[in-house]
Amino acid sequence: MPRHISRYVQTTAGGERTRHFTARQPPGILKLDSGDPYFPTPRHIREAAQDALDAGLTRYAPGQGDPEFLAAVCETVEREAGAHYSPDDVVATNGATSAIYAVFTAFLDPGDEVIVLDPTFSLYALVARQLGAVPVAVPHGGDYHIDVEAVRAAVTPRTRLIMVNNPNNPTGVVYRRDELQALANLCAERDLLLVADEAYEKILQPGCVHVPLLSLHEYRDRLILIHTFSKTYAMTGWRLGYVVAPSDLAGLLFGVHRAIAGPITTFVQRAGAAALRGSQDCVAEMRDEYGRRGGLMHRLALDVPGLRPVEPQGGFYLYCRYDLALSASEVRQRLWDAGVAVRSGTEFGAAGKGHLRFSYSVDEPTIEKGMAIMAEVFRHLSRTLALLLPLVLLAGCGGEEAPKKPAVSANLCVYLPNGMTLGPYDTQKECATARENMPRGECKPCQK
Ligand SMILES: Cc1ncc(COP(=O)(O)O)c(C=O)c1O
Repeated sequence: MPRHISRYVQTTAGGERTRHFTARQPPGILKLDSGDPYFPTPRHIREAAQDALDAGLTRYAPGQGDPEFLAAVCETVEREAGAHYSPDDVVATNGATSAIYAVFTAFLDPGDEVIVLDPTFSLYALVARQLGAVPVAVPHGGDYHIDVEAVRAAVTPRTRLIMVNNPNNPTGVVYRRDELQALANLCAERDLLLVADEAYEKILQPGCVHVPLLSLHEYRDRLILIHTFSKTYAMTGWRLGYVVAPSDLAGLLFGVHRAIAGPITTFVQRAGAAALRGSQDCVAEMRDEYGRRGGLMHRLALDVPGLRPVEPQGGFYLYCRYDLALSASEVRQRLWDAGVAVRSGTEFGAAGKGHLRFSYSVDEPTIEKGMAIMAEVFRHLSRTLALLLPLVLLAGCGGEEAPKKPAVSANLCVYLPNGMTLGPYDTQKECATARENMPRGECKPCQK
């Protein structure tokens, strides 16, 4: 007897990100796919956790968070965004991941739409789908910045919020104040929430400036900040983050988050307070090191035939367009077979066609070895594909162009013999992935 599985969860089964995390990596593979900082958590943060443990802080943390932690967040927001928030406006979370889940759960009903910029961190679309909501992917402009008019065109009466990731994973682009301001304006016009995930806010290349969402003071009532300690303080395994929102919404988010994850580990929150209140020299040291590694990887990528890297601005990812008549997941597979793990651009949205994402969170020898293998694979593929090109053209298989129009969802659905429908999916491929678990399903245009 087949077990009943939530229809929304069925739609999110499989997918490239899930497969990536469950794939066993062969020993010795060069990990240019990593989202994990290479550094250990700074000593004073580890010591604060140890002190809190020794002081017996092992019980449930109170309310929206440990008072020390909430106060430290408010001080940080005041210092960095010039915005005054009180502890009632902050909720401690299990990293950015549970914060995203709580925000989407609180504000999206099944069928509601959330606008995500394409490409972007793939968890947003996954969570939206798990909740029965519809992620509407709007491609960036040609310069990988926000195409505000395309976003405007994608807003419908079902749109509830716009999700921004700044700096952007995977492109490494840091958005300017004018484009964020224009989005906030649009949200005010259409009564939407503007949510920013600023996971990489402190990891900036020399000369790049990050504009905090909460510095858009006049839009305060509709701004929600999601933050994490994972990247800035090399604390991915600690699972600590927070949300800052207008007080009425923060209370609501607390209620939702509590049902997902319960209170956040008390001594970990004390470590978080120490991270925010302590010296920020460790952050500057890691930033400078990422700066050097990003510069190195960018220079090496410029020498790879057929690879066109986007100049990195923030985060620790190098996003590259490539000139090969192969899909991003095929190129990813070729690199994997040669011993280098990378992420395909399409994992981050349809606009990631023809792109790959490399991580420079790893050490310099790994970057050098990985990029040398990459150059070899690209040389080989360019030669082979040049020989095959006439055949490829005859078969009607062209190179990949990023879609020019907003890739609005709701195109393809999986229809099951029992009358159930899954979806909608943005692409044929996503639909086929969802169908993998239901062999008797059929991918067809969704009937509204
Ligand atoms: C943009 C972005 N947001 C959030 C996360 C997840 O953060 P956390 O570890 O805090 O759950 C990641 C992880 O790679 C990320 O790239």
